[in-house]
Amino acid sequence: MATTSQSISRFAIFTDHIRRKIKLENCIFKFKIDYDKEQLEKESKLFHYKPINTETLNNIYDVSESDKDDLSFIQKDTTWWRDQESWNTGYKLKDENVNDLPESQRLTDLFKRIVGTENIKPNFFTQTKGTEVKTHIDVGTLCAINFMIKGGETPVRFDDADAVFVENYTVALLNVSKNHGVPVQTGEDRLLFKLRFTHNKYEEVKEAIKQYQLDWMMA
Ligand SMILES: [Fe+2]
Repeated sequence: MATTSQSISRFAIFTDHIRRKIKLENCIFKFKIDYDKEQLEKESKLFHYKPINTETLNNIYDVSESDKDDLSFIQKDTTWWRDQESWNTGYKLKDENVNDLPESQRLTDLFKRIVGTENIKPNFFTQTKGTEVKTHIDVGTLCAINFMIKGGETPVRFDDADAVFVENYTVALLNVSKNHGVPVQTGEDRLLFKLRFTHNKYEEVKEAIKQYQLDWMMA
C-alpha cells in the first residue's frame, strides 16, 4: 500500500501533468484537413519575399489594429532582428496580372466561413535550413493557422514563463500572441502557408474549428 508521502507525490506529478497539458492546449491546436501541398508550393513561387526584421515589424506595428502588440522581444536579440535574412515572408505578387492562387484562396475562404470573419490574411513564409527563428510574438496577429508545405521536421517552440513546449505539426492553430520561435531548421528549407487572424482570438478560432469538425462528422 502507498504511504501518505508517496500518494502526495503521485498527486503532485498528476496535477503537474494536467497543468502542463492545459498550458500546451493554450499554445497549439493540431488538426487534420485536406490541402494541396503541390499547388500551394506552385503558388508560393508567384511572390516576392522579404526578411521579417526590425524594419518590417515596425511597419506592421504602425498599421496594426491589435492592442496586444509588443515589440520588446527585439531588445533581447537586437542584432539578429536587424540583420536576419533567413526567415522571409511573401509580400507582393511578382506579376500582378498573374494572380492564380486557387488553393490559397480556397483555404482562406474556407476558414473565413468556419470562423465567421473577413479578417484573415494569407501569407507564405520561408526559413532556410540551418537557421532558427528567435523567440517573438507575432505582430498584428492574434492567432494563426500554419499549413506545412516543406520542412515539417522542425518543431515550433513555445516559451511559457515556467514551461517550454516543443511540438511538431503538419497543420495547427498557433497562439502566436504567446512567446514562440523555431529551433534550428533541419532536413530542408521550410515553406509554409499561414492564415493570420487579426481580430479573432485563439480560443474563439479553436472552438470554431472543433465545431466544424463535429458538424462534418455528424453530416
Ligand atoms: Fe511567429
